[in-house]
Amino acid sequence: MKSFIVNEDEGALSLEVADVEPVATDSSDILVAVEFSGVNYKDALVASARSRVRRIPRLVGGVDAAGVVLQSSDPAFTVGTRVAVHGGDLGVARDGGFAEQVFAPAKFLSALPDSISTHDAMVIGTAGFTAMASVLALEHHGLDRNGEVVVTGATGGVGSLAVTFLHALDYQVVASTGSPEQSQWLVDRGALRIIGRDEIADKPDRVLASARWAGAIDCVGGETLHHILRSLRYGAAVAASGLVASPELNTNLYPFITRAVCLLGIDAVEAPASTRTSVWNALGEVAPKVDFAPLIDRTVRLEDLPEALELIRNGKTRGRILVVPAPG
Ligand SMILES: NC(=O)c1ccc[n+]([C@@H]2O[C@H](COP(=O)([O-])OP(=O)(O)OC[C@H]3O[C@@H](n4cnc5c(N)ncnc54)[C@H](OP(=O)(O)O)[C@@H]3O)[C@@H](O)[C@H]2O)c1
Repeated sequence: MKSFIVNEDEGALSLEVADVEPVATDSSDILVAVEFSGVNYKDALVASARSRVRRIPRLVGGVDAAGVVLQSSDPAFTVGTRVAVHGGDLGVARDGGFAEQVFAPAKFLSALPDSISTHDAMVIGTAGFTAMASVLALEHHGLDRNGEVVVTGATGGVGSLAVTFLHALDYQVVASTGSPEQSQWLVDRGALRIIGRDEIADKPDRVLASARWAGAIDCVGGETLHHILRSLRYGAAVAASGLVASPELNTNLYPFITRAVCLLGIDAVEAPASTRTSVWNALGEVAPKVDFAPLIDRTVRLEDLPEALELIRNGKTRGRILVVPAPG
């Protein structure tokens, strides 16, 4: 089966398409015929030399995939079930979704709601799952509709889907981006207004900034997250999932103890079955209100992945890169 192999041998990294038979690591693993995969920032980290994310020297890349169950002894995922596969060590420490077929344990599978095709499931992908998990976490915290929700890294996978979902759910979304040339595209996705990356830093000389945001979804981390914490309204929360700028967070306690703000951590990788079910159900409800086509930056074959990974590594994408392992 055609697969995209990441291989590191004594510091030399190679990325190539090869014929590889999928291998089950356990007799209960489920075999999925991959119709679509997607490129995530994490895939670029896996496909880097001396990667701290990839945990084995050689594997089929791809942290997510969507397709149809081909072989299964699990009554919850009978042959023919349409599924999304993501999380755990998929594409990180075991073969992943950049292939025509993938074996995965049931805990990595989610049956797709009827309203989501396998194509749209990978426009959503791990990025959209994370975006919706962030929305649900903010709502659980008591997100106030009478205020603006800021999304950082807004043209990226998590960011653009967060903007899209918040708009579809009738929240007031402000998109923060370092790509001002994409402003109209973000407005078309539902952003009420656009702010530059630098505008996140309000009153940087003061301990607290103006209390601007009713909520925030941040996939950037570092200084950006620090400034969001300083500018949340009283009792508001930020859902933090990413670290494209930095994994460091240098901040202070004032926003927490004088404005009662909350920092909510979002994890898509080890999300338990109950979280996966509630997030995919929420995605199923919002999907009919979403036009997924403009969220696709490009559609690529396995052979095109090195270039696609480079684009996402350098923040040069808009929305999602879709992968078709077996075109035609
Ligand atoms: N916690 C989880 O389970 C989970 C799941 C999925 C993803 N993630 C993480 O979320 C982050 C985003 O993933 P993604 O797949 O959406 O990546 P992506 O498509 O590459 O999007 C990241 C966006 O961040 C902005 N950006 C890039 N470099 C930046 C920098 N140096 N400073 C400030 N902003 C920068 C860019 O948007 P603008 O040009 O619009 O600013 C870029 O498009 C990654 O750190 C990823 O590892 C975490």
